[in-house]
Amino acid sequence: MYEYLKKILFKLDPENAHDLAITLLKSQNYLKCFDFSYNNDKLKVSALDIDFKNPIGLAAGFDKNANILNALAYLGFGFIEIGAITPLAQSGNPKPRLWRLKEEQSLQNAFGFNNDGVKVVKNRLSKYNFNKLPPIFINVGKNKFTKNEEAINDYESVIKELDCYADAFVINISSPNTPNLRSLQNKDFINELFTRLTNISKKPILLKLSPDMNIDEANLLISTAKQSGAKGLILTNTSTDYSLSANAKNIGGISGALLKEKSLTMLKNIQKYDDFCIISSGGISTADDVYERLELGAKLVQIYTSFIYNGPKSIYNINKNLCQKI
Ligand SMILES: Cc1cc2nc3c(=O)[nH]c(=O)nc-3n(C[C@H](O)[C@H](O)[C@H](O)COP(=O)(O)O)c2cc1C
Repeated sequence: MYEYLKKILFKLDPENAHDLAITLLKSQNYLKCFDFSYNNDKLKVSALDIDFKNPIGLAAGFDKNANILNALAYLGFGFIEIGAITPLAQSGNPKPRLWRLKEEQSLQNAFGFNNDGVKVVKNRLSKYNFNKLPPIFINVGKNKFTKNEEAINDYESVIKELDCYADAFVINISSPNTPNLRSLQNKDFINELFTRLTNISKKPILLKLSPDMNIDEANLLISTAKQSGAKGLILTNTSTDYSLSANAKNIGGISGALLKEKSLTMLKNIQKYDDFCIISSGGISTADDVYERLELGAKLVQIYTSFIYNGPKSIYNINKNLCQKI
């Protein structure tokens, strides 16, 4: 069925298709007719002091504003990351800002943290029945016009506001779409940031890194983050290595199959620590991919781009196939 829907969706401009998908998924009543959850005790994972019914999460950026959490729960995700959320609402970069690299099963986006802002998202979250939802992670960003010297205040204010709704927070200083954001991926900033944030929230706080840094640099940031109170990592955000595709634009970040090798290389080579949860993201589309990431030390994985290409039943299919392997 998704093949038919996809033919229509893929004729639309990618951002319009995404908005239409969100609108369709908002009326989740019809979804109850389908059972897209695949449950099996073998899939259960315990990490970050949280119980997950399976290791496959929805990566940040799909449901930025927490509009469709009930529908996403029906689709069988083991956890859902909303955001990026910034203190103030912002419209993001000018359109067009999302492109399909169809032959390469990849996407390129330059959204720039378009979101409704923390107050509106908080109000929306207050209306959900959390007993019916999988664990919710909240991806936190800074507003475009907040100077880097004041960025910590933005992260603090979002975390303070949303603390009671999050199972975990993810610090996003790795998006390529907010000017100079990635320069915050430095030791001093990470040290001060996590020291302050862990004083205001007892929820696990994770760091999400870019795939475009070398391993020594990544390892330094990871050990700093760990020492300063971070409970884990998401590896990785999108890439600005436009040499990955002859069809790439010179803007934004690449995700999906083209990102796979970079994300894998980072996972293979980073220093692993006990009690430090690694979530692998980047180019995951099959049960083999998930299995490989788990074997390499990831406790959980996240998916975005392959969900667009393979549709609403893809999480069910991956979990079912994963069960045969573990
Ligand atoms: C359209 C789009 C928007 C995204 N927005 C965010 C975001 O707001 N915050 C973030 O940390 N990552 C964002 N990402 C990155 C994803 O969360 C994910 O880390 C990345 O796409 C790699 O996974 P994938 O290859 O399965 O897509 C976005 C990705 C896409 C494609």
